[in-house]
Amino acid sequence: MTPLILDTDGGIDDAQALVMLLAHGVRPAAVTTVFGNVTLELATRNILGILPLCEAGDIPVISGQAAPMSQPAIHATHVHGEDGIGGAPIPEDRPAPAGDDAVTYLRETIRANAAAGGKTDLLMIGPLTNLALALTLEPSIAGGIGQLTIMGGTIHGRGNTTPAAEFNIFADPEAADIVFRADIPTRVVPWEPCTTHAMDAAEMDALFAGQGEDPLGAFNKAIAEHSRKVNEGFGAGDVFRFVDPFAAAVVIEPGLVTGAIEASVAVALAPGLTRGMTLVDPSRRLGTPPVTLIETGDLARLRDLYAASIRWRPRDP
Ligand code: BDR
Ligand code: CA
Repeated sequence: MTPLILDTDGGIDDAQALVMLLAHGVRPAAVTTVFGNVTLELATRNILGILPLCEAGDIPVISGQAAPMSQPAIHATHVHGEDGIGGAPIPEDRPAPAGDDAVTYLRETIRANAAAGGKTDLLMIGPLTNLALALTLEPSIAGGIGQLTIMGGTIHGRGNTTPAAEFNIFADPEAADIVFRADIPTRVVPWEPCTTHAMDAAEMDALFAGQGEDPLGAFNKAIAEHSRKVNEGFGAGDVFRFVDPFAAAVVIEPGLVTGAIEASVAVALAPGLTRGMTLVDPSRRLGTPPVTLIETGDLARLRDLYAASIRWRPRDP
């Protein structure tokens, strides 16, 4: 099986995505962290806390870039809470990071796997800074990436951070530009389908009834409650939206994608209203290699995968 590296900014839905991967037997070879929803320090802390809850504390966590390539860092604590996980309880006793140079880790790992005749898959659910720097320093690693899955960008130009831009791209547009120019088999879960693939309050209440007694259950429940509250505060209703878990689900079960387009993507870099916007061109006039942009997924399967991950415990037979 092709090894997978998860690159994450340690927020609420990143946490859910990580639990979902592990619950479905997709064990990342490593997790690399990046600034984004919160600072790099908090993102790394969160991942180091979640892994032991899933009895996966032996998965190496390598911290990466604390800031974007050419602008000051932005965060989204108004969405993810001051700690990035809405105050959800994680163990005090956490493993130490296995390293603090995710860029070198990505380069060396992709290069070593390629030298052994294999590929490396990447799931990126935060700003794309770590990979962009790795590609800049060593462009040939692009050929060693088997499948890159990204949560980020927009497909129809409706952003969640600015009217035009989605958070992961807006947080480091130069990095996204480098990644979308690279010749890598890439599929993207953009922001818009994340707003339509959701679970309503009744479904969530039923799923979480009787949950929350054990540490992982309490963590999952706190995460879900925070997520619902935030969506309600934004006027989206009391719903749980699949965002990073949508991208995780695509990795777990690629067949759940029911609608996608192939298009070239360019990132708007000029200052102003469109900075960080992903311009999508199915006619491929932008000069970037085409990527797959997911428009729809099988909502019943998404719900099943998520529900199974909420019920999962690491000691399950
Ligand atoms: C993306 O940005 C973050 O807020 C989420 O974790 C997700 O990766 C959504 O725009
Ligand atoms: Ca994220």
